[in-house]
Amino acid sequence: MIRMFLDCDTGIDDSVALLYLLARRDVDVVGIASTAGNVPVDVVTANNLAWLELCGRTDVPVHVGSPVPLVAELMTTEDTHGPLGVGYAELPVATAGPSTTDAADAWIEAAATHPGELIGVVTGPLTSLATAIRRDPALPGRLARLVIMGGAFHVHGNTTPTSEWNIAVDPEAAAEVFAACGSEGVGAPIVCPLDLTESVALTPDHLVRLAAAAGSEPVECPDPTDEPGLRSVADNEVIRHLIDALRFYLEFHHAHDEGYLAHLHDPFAVMVALAPDIVETVPARVDVELVGRLTRGMTVADERSMTGEPNARIATSTDVEAVLDDLIETIGGFAKSVAQSGNPGIVTGGGIDPVH
Ligand code: RIB
Ligand code: CA
Repeated sequence: MIRMFLDCDTGIDDSVALLYLLARRDVDVVGIASTAGNVPVDVVTANNLAWLELCGRTDVPVHVGSPVPLVAELMTTEDTHGPLGVGYAELPVATAGPSTTDAADAWIEAAATHPGELIGVVTGPLTSLATAIRRDPALPGRLARLVIMGGAFHVHGNTTPTSEWNIAVDPEAAAEVFAACGSEGVGAPIVCPLDLTESVALTPDHLVRLAAAAGSEPVECPDPTDEPGLRSVADNEVIRHLIDALRFYLEFHHAHDEGYLAHLHDPFAVMVALAPDIVETVPARVDVELVGRLTRGMTVADERSMTGEPNARIATSTDVEAVLDDLIETIGGFAKSVAQSGNPGIVTGGGIDPVH
């Protein structure tokens, strides 16, 4: 079994990432850390609990992180992810509650329970992970792998001209995490920046394929001419909520002249965590600007060892169609099995052929 710890700010694309993990037979989701970001931490927590209960996976513990970043004031983005962080979806409220272990201690305990085996993936701000490293500085070296969705190196930021959301929410946390990551390769994270994640773009045609893979009816194809907020009537509950969530994201990107599409940053990072060979990477020393009037939250990659040895590997390319095919097949099959059994449906391990 692949032991995975997910730290997220659920969020629309975080939701897709979570479903992908739950769908993988070969993955043991050891725990989920809820970190404030897209929406406040209590809403992130509620979303994680709701998706887990919807999928019959209340066995997976959900941990609550700090309500605020290390230093910055909390910044949320309901305009991007919806008032409750899941677009137009109205998830059934979970009856189960979160663990009494907070997110930082959950990181520490998971890594200690599975030394050298646990894969950590962060798809939100790095507040919880940075707090865990403050409590246990040896944490990065205990992980088998760490993948971070965040940063923008050679493309425009999505939060400021020079910063990407997960870093911009808590730049101090990001700086502390990169500083703690050894340059010896142990604990050096794979970073999935906007440079690459913005190429993983879901379109309505992918949603048609997803519904078909789940045997869901009717098969719906969202269109930019639809009434905004049109709700899905898919008979598969997971598909219905996913379409309602993703329609909000399609409308958001369309309204910002990026096309009627949805950048699937977070499921991509999860797929990289499970199969790092699906990306090409370059070593770099990554640090975060903290004081620049215009550049606070900027991730800077030194790819020529001018400032020290590499402390990260930056993902630079992938087979996008293969990634989207795997996502559709895996989540579609999972949604079908959940509907058929009403229990945690798990499809055979997904995964795509490595790039190499
Ligand atoms: O910049 C994209 C990232 O910020 C994604 O993780 C998205 O969910 C938001 O958290
Ligand atoms: Ca996220």
